Amino acid sequence: MSAAERIAQLTDQLNYYNHRYYQDSVSEISDYEFDKLLEELSALETQHPDLKRPDSPTQRVGGTVTKEFQAVAHKYPMLSLGNTYNEQDLRDFDERVRKGLNGADFEYVCELKFDGISLSMTYENGVLVRGVTRGDGTRGDDITANVKTIKTLPLNIHSFTHSTTQSFEIRGEGFMPFSVFEKLNRELEAADESTYANPRNAASGAFKLQDSAETARRSLDCYVYYFLSDEEVFETHSQSLEALKAWGFNVSPSWQKCADIEAVLAYIAEWEEKRHTLPLATDGIVIKVNSLAQQRELGFTAKSPRWAIAYKYKAENKPGVLRSVSFQVGRTGALTPVANLDNLQEDGKGLWLSGTRVKRASLHNANEIERLGLLLNDVVLVEKGGEIIPKITGVNTEARATRLTFPIAWPTHCPECATELVRKEGEANHYCPNERGCPPQLRGKVEHFIHRKAMNIDSLGEGKIELLFEKGLIQNPADLYDLKYEQLLGLEKTITDDETGKTKKVSFREKTVENILKGIENSKTVPFKQVLFGIGIRFVGATVADRLAAYFKNIDALMAADFDALRNVPEIGEKIAQSLVDFFGDTSNRVYVERLRAAGLQMQTDDLPVVMESNALEGKTILYTGTFGDLSRETLEQKIAANGGKLVSGVSGKLDFLIVGEKPGSSKVEKATKLNVKMISIEEFLAMIG
Ligand code: IVH
Repeated sequence: MSAAERIAQLTDQLNYYNHRYYQDSVSEISDYEFDKLLEELSALETQHPDLKRPDSPTQRVGGTVTKEFQAVAHKYPMLSLGNTYNEQDLRDFDERVRKGLNGADFEYVCELKFDGISLSMTYENGVLVRGVTRGDGTRGDDITANVKTIKTLPLNIHSFTHSTTQSFEIRGEGFMPFSVFEKLNRELEAADESTYANPRNAASGAFKLQDSAETARRSLDCYVYYFLSDEEVFETHSQSLEALKAWGFNVSPSWQKCADIEAVLAYIAEWEEKRHTLPLATDGIVIKVNSLAQQRELGFTAKSPRWAIAYKYKAENKPGVLRSVSFQVGRTGALTPVANLDNLQEDGKGLWLSGTRVKRASLHNANEIERLGLLLNDVVLVEKGGEIIPKITGVNTEARATRLTFPIAWPTHCPECATELVRKEGEANHYCPNERGCPPQLRGKVEHFIHRKAMNIDSLGEGKIELLFEKGLIQNPADLYDLKYEQLLGLEKTITDDETGKTKKVSFREKTVENILKGIENSKTVPFKQVLFGIGIRFVGATVADRLAAYFKNIDALMAADFDALRNVPEIGEKIAQSLVDFFGDTSNRVYVERLRAAGLQMQTDDLPVVMESNALEGKTILYTGTFGDLSRETLEQKIAANGGKLVSGVSGKLDFLIVGEKPGSSKVEKATKLNVKMISIEEFLAMIG
């Protein structure tokens, strides 16, 4: 037998045994024999790397080291689901479905809503070729090598199906089973390393490991719940789940067909407690219309399907003890009190809620402490829902009879820089006024500056800013533009993630430094409105910055504007106007802006001056909705202006006409219909301006 034949034979044989073991719990051969065959295959693959098949079971144990995960576009966007929280919401959903299907008969499938990491797997010719994270829904990280370590994901479905379906995508939830999570945390604890707060964080960390052999050791699993293909393979969702199960995928047996909304409600009640017996955390259920033809008929909104919805169980709550309060200083100098919590027994096990160890809860500000009437050592009710930060929802005042409690003292001085705090009239928060010296404020400003909606320097995330501060290389955002390659190369630091408690090494190697400098360089082309947002003026959020940039067009006009001039800008109120006057009234802020200008940042809008083409639209107010094929929004707006028209922001009775494109916004169209506003197509509009 040739090497190629033997490799193929071993690959098929081992995949078959894996499938029997993980799906059917049957061991057809001993572990010893299995390992022998795997070793033989592995040795052959080392000798003939070109003969290694993409579905080789040797990948289950990893061995691929990925330096940086590639971002890849999803063929089908990964959408989210609408949420419901009570019976009425669900009945409303049911009503919308009924209407959408014009009263036709339909049924639902109910599933648990698994709280893990959403994954998308692509199969080509029956072979798993790609595994990608959700990312932003349109693009995710290619983590194929890590996904292949999931033993319940078939690498090749051919041996188990005669299906002619060749290429498809599978969506599922990657997770770390509770049992694995507990073992991992015990090991970390024994090694004196920090533990993960919950299985979801542990799974997320494991999927992002660069060494897939390490991922393989974390025994990740995946429940699949969605089949997508260009071909019409199934008639119903339940058929697809049954087929997936038969092809060797791990489909949680908790799903059920439900004839109507009453049956859905019964399913919800049944699983409220039973869900805690599953190997992973769940935070609700997902209700899907079973017929795929009916799913197509109902379609999607921009964000989520109309044929499915999630129902969230009530957040779990439990009593805990308020041990102490710490105070965090944010970017603006505001102090946020944070409650440090423990379990009632205070036996070292900690307070656990919905599968997560809760150590802290935000108290927002002094008002919140007063509102709750909190005292130190109080017994408090703690609530944790899904991914939301835990909340303290109440105090057990009766428990005070048997406990010593103490008032919570606000610090008089900043816990970070010892400057005396100030409390502005009418504001609940205490502030540290040391804007230019207080470390978390300085760091916060740089973190804000590099934000995606500001200068978008994503190569500086995750602890890198901290390192730059620590080495004294930056004090404020303008310093970023003075950084040199030689200064950065070789810098190193170990950081601890506040949420997960995991430690991680940040080190500036060649590639990292190149990326950082490239990110900084690229930020010089970021539009003025984002620069304005990034500068970090109090109360100037992204939307306000957008308005100001559109109105003043450049930084000099904005800096020259006095309070009244600023108040004249639509949607700019007194608070924002005053904040701008204060900011630019401070010489050091002007110096900061000048440094940014000198570095080459965009300090003016690059709107093209409008060249008039005609006055066909003279005096007309116009709005558009939807998309127009190749014609971009910018070009359309330019055409409206160039022909004398005025673009407005909303539908009103005074609107002259609404241009309706593909996928128009339903509320705009509805309102225009109601108000009898003329609606025209893009062709009609183009004809109007000749
Ligand atoms: S179906 C078009 N089914 O929930 C949407 N999603 O908010 C298809 N999820 O990102 C999703 N369990 O990660 C579906 N049984 C289930 C699910 C589930 C958990 C997650 C999924 C998605 C999010 C949607």
